[in-house]
Amino acid sequence: MTDTIRRIVLASRPAGPPRPGDFRLEETAMPDVPEGQLLLQTIYLSLDPYMRGRMSDARSYADPIRIGDVMLGATVSRIRQSRHRDWKEGDIVVAYSGWQTHALSDGRDLRRIDPAVAPISTGLGVLGMTGFTAYAGLRNIGRPKPGETVVVAAASGAVGSVVGQIARIGGARAIGIAGGPDKCAFVKNELGFDAAIDHRAPDFARQLAEACPDGIDVYFENVGGAVWDAVLPLLNDFARIPLCGMISHYNDEAVAKPSIDRLPASMKTIQQKSITIRGFMNVEFLDQQPAFLEEATGWVRDGRLKWREDIVDGLEQAPAAFIGLLNGHNFGKLVVRVSSEA
Ligand SMILES: NC(=O)c1ccc[n+]([C@@H]2O[C@H](COP(=O)([O-])OP(=O)(O)OC[C@H]3O[C@@H](n4cnc5c(N)ncnc54)[C@H](OP(=O)(O)O)[C@@H]3O)[C@@H](O)[C@H]2O)c1
Repeated sequence: MTDTIRRIVLASRPAGPPRPGDFRLEETAMPDVPEGQLLLQTIYLSLDPYMRGRMSDARSYADPIRIGDVMLGATVSRIRQSRHRDWKEGDIVVAYSGWQTHALSDGRDLRRIDPAVAPISTGLGVLGMTGFTAYAGLRNIGRPKPGETVVVAAASGAVGSVVGQIARIGGARAIGIAGGPDKCAFVKNELGFDAAIDHRAPDFARQLAEACPDGIDVYFENVGGAVWDAVLPLLNDFARIPLCGMISHYNDEAVAKPSIDRLPASMKTIQQKSITIRGFMNVEFLDQQPAFLEEATGWVRDGRLKWREDIVDGLEQAPAAFIGLLNGHNFGKLVVRVSSEA
């Protein structure tokens, strides 16, 4: 085994879109494993939009990453060495060990995964945090009924792809919004959504209206911005909106540029159509994770829940891949292969 750890730390806080110089690759000595702890070797690292928020020191639901600290993130890791009685060498776990090749753990936040169920990388996506986010938002807030129309943006991505498929499993119509013809073809033909609309098309709003002749009953909000503007006039009375994220705004500068204030128009529609809009964090619903894992594993096994991963090779590629995620360059759940599975 190598005697150093490679890790990527936060070098500076981005102003606007992150740049490669905001990250720094470092090497440090491999630690000894104290009694009661274990050493994890990262196989896959998850890259997720929330990491952009943690790079900023603006007030938020969670503490920022400190300058010089390892970038945070979930991993699928192998236990390399164990001095912990509940964990043995060779086990594959989901951990929260960050952008680094190895990490010590006291075992508290680990979740064992069974490599026989599905490829282990799915522990970060369809059978992990992002799949659970889709499930929790739809089940607790969206609550689509059979025959209703569910619209989701970033529909080829980690959360959106699962939202539409679960909506269809429950008998609803699923309309996906994605960037570009390849992603739209995947959403419609591979994932089986009823329609997929390209948000970059010049007549995007008209195409969306045509795909939703009965209006929109559930809008699963991942994006904000121009997509919200197109969705707003199509919302039905008593529509439900799980507000999951607004990735189109994550790189906005702290001080907003002067722009048209959309809030009054949004509020007016929300009030006059008796719409429910409810922000959520997946962790609110963690008690439902066992039910999710059971149901989603069944759907994966019987082929009703499909997934796509965008796998980037090498820890040193993580900054560029993350910058690309905020610009729609990923196609499917973005993960970095940090070491081989073998
Ligand atoms: N509330 C929670 O607990 C929770 C948990 C996980 C994720 N989330 C949120 O869920 C959303 C999706 O996350 P994910 O992990 O599934 O990411 P993802 O969809 O796999 O990847 C991000 C995608 O967002 C789209 N995008 C980026 N900038 C955009 C823009 N300006 N306008 C429209 N689309 C844009 C791109 O897809 P296109 O090329 O198709 O546009 C990009 O591929 C994010 O807002 C994230 O913060 C929330």
